[in-house]
Amino acid sequence: MFECVFSGGIIRKALDKGLLEVNVHNLRDFASGKHKQVDDRPFGGWEGMVLKPEPVFKAVEKIRQDEKAPVYLLSPQGERFDSRMAGGLAQLPQVILICGRYEGVDERVIEHLITGEISIGDYVLAGGEPAAVVIVDAVSRFVPQVVGKPESVFHDSFFDGLLDFPQYTRPREFRGMKVPQILFSGDHKQIERWRRKKALEKTWLLRPDLLAERKLSLEEKELLEQIQKERKE
Ligand code: ADE
Repeated sequence: MFECVFSGGIIRKALDKGLLEVNVHNLRDFASGKHKQVDDRPFGGWEGMVLKPEPVFKAVEKIRQDEKAPVYLLSPQGERFDSRMAGGLAQLPQVILICGRYEGVDERVIEHLITGEISIGDYVLAGGEPAAVVIVDAVSRFVPQVVGKPESVFHDSFFDGLLDFPQYTRPREFRGMKVPQILFSGDHKQIERWRRKKALEKTWLLRPDLLAERKLSLEEKELLEQIQKERKE
């Protein structure tokens, strides 16, 4: 699962250049006994299997290079992953992600080993692996030099709490659909203002929750009032 994602695209390039390192470990390598069992039946009786504490503790103890490196369990109970969290994790020398599996993880891992739990959304995945892939992808974009144009990371949706403004490329007219005239004006200040207005409009229409959380500048307040007036007309 990890190989197919990390063997292409900007992550592959970043790995080749040594801008970041991703190490995937198999919990089975840290399990004891003849069968290298990583899970077992829950005490008290219940359905399914629970991930044993021993392989998880042993794995973390072995791979942790820095005592302060945070250890996150990927689970639907965790704090919701977002762009701000991605930017924060990108600053750290090492982050350890544990992919939860089966029906659950022994509570001693949660109480005594991990720094916290991270969820990528309100749905239950069969395992934490796809969540780990999502997190590595989003975090690596904040690692310096991974993305060709560093400014683009900071202009992306969510970075400043707004959705992206619309983008256009050639041709200027396609099946009668025209590119907005302002983009050919050469007036960068006006283009910037138009883009901010469009980003605000999109966010207001599609993700009003993001606007509620964000402090608007004076110019943005003005633009939003304009949008609301125009939409009423
Ligand atoms: N494991 C199972 N579901 C998950 C989710 N929504 N986020 C992160 N890890 C998970």
